[in-house]
Amino acid sequence: MTEKQSKWDADLSLAGGHMPVMLNETIALLNVRADHMYIDVTAGSGGHFKSICQKAGSSKNIIAFDQDIEAIERLHKSLGQEHADVKLIHSNFVHLKSELAKLNINTINGGILADLGVSSNQLDEAERGFSFLREGPLDMRMDIRSPISAYDLVNDLDESELASIIYQYGEERHSRMIARAIVRHRPIKTTLELANIIENATRSKRISNSKRHKNASKLHPATRTFQALRIAVNSELDNLKHFLEQSIDLLAPGARLVVITFHSLEDRIVKQFFKEMASNCICPPRQPICTCKQRAKVQIITPKPLVALEEEILANIRSRSAKLRAVEKLPLG
Ligand SMILES: C[S@@+](CC[C@H](N)C(=O)[O-])C[C@H]1O[C@@H](n2cnc3c(N)ncnc32)[C@H](O)[C@@H]1O
Repeated sequence: MTEKQSKWDADLSLAGGHMPVMLNETIALLNVRADHMYIDVTAGSGGHFKSICQKAGSSKNIIAFDQDIEAIERLHKSLGQEHADVKLIHSNFVHLKSELAKLNINTINGGILADLGVSSNQLDEAERGFSFLREGPLDMRMDIRSPISAYDLVNDLDESELASIIYQYGEERHSRMIARAIVRHRPIKTTLELANIIENATRSKRISNSKRHKNASKLHPATRTFQALRIAVNSELDNLKHFLEQSIDLLAPGARLVVITFHSLEDRIVKQFFKEMASNCICPPRQPICTCKQRAKVQIITPKPLVALEEEILANIRSRSAKLRAVEKLPLG
């Protein structure tokens, strides 16, 4: 890292090795038991996955998904002979039901885990284009089969569409200013080119902000725009919604769904979905009589999301923004 880059507060764009987030809490909430089926839909480097296998005493009934072929291949290599029976599926979790149907599986009696977002490996590999601190092509596709990369969005969208993506998915206050600067500097080919354009475009705002507020954000100025582009490139929020719906259908009574999120947009979707699924009525609050016929499908196990302990945050900065939520399927859900 150069001196210029190191001024940013503990930057999440440099992951530096993989550590599974809130591992003990996740395994406890999944309630891992022998002879039950578990699906890790975001296997990544296999940290959570391997612990699930260990706790279950076998990998026979444990299935791993990842949409990143490199993750699947790396995991395959790292699993020894003892896990020879494990099923690794290279697919987006939006296809959870159909992929499981191919294996004649239509119910999960143990649990499903999703540890969302980008992995340390993806951040660390400059070539993947996820990090604004490493020079690489503007890619950001988790699945390299996808037709649209960050390059396409940055160079082809019109200014208002870009601003809207940066505002909605990055919650970036300076979205219009950034979109204008992007359009002015096209074509933009690399991550550092884009990061510099954002840094320069927002400099005056940041200087006046830091004069007014002592605790002005120490996030790198490109953080929110990179997050927004990544979410858009990988359709992360839509996929999450579809995945949650499929998961609830698949769970057998007593089985659990555990989700780890890393930003407020994801967490809001999970929180809202769990609330709806745990409710016996989703009619508008002012409606005098219930007409929705909704019956609770799950019980919420984490009324408040679990967050990482101070010591984990010190050891793994990525855990700083993690929120862990879990539900259990009800008998008649
Ligand atoms: C935070 S990492 C998971 C780390 C993992 N729990 C571990 O302990 O190593 C997220 C992983 O999920 C994958 N992923 C993200 N969204 C996905 C999706 N919609 N479908 C399948 N995999 C996805 C990414 O490719 C990445 O490898």
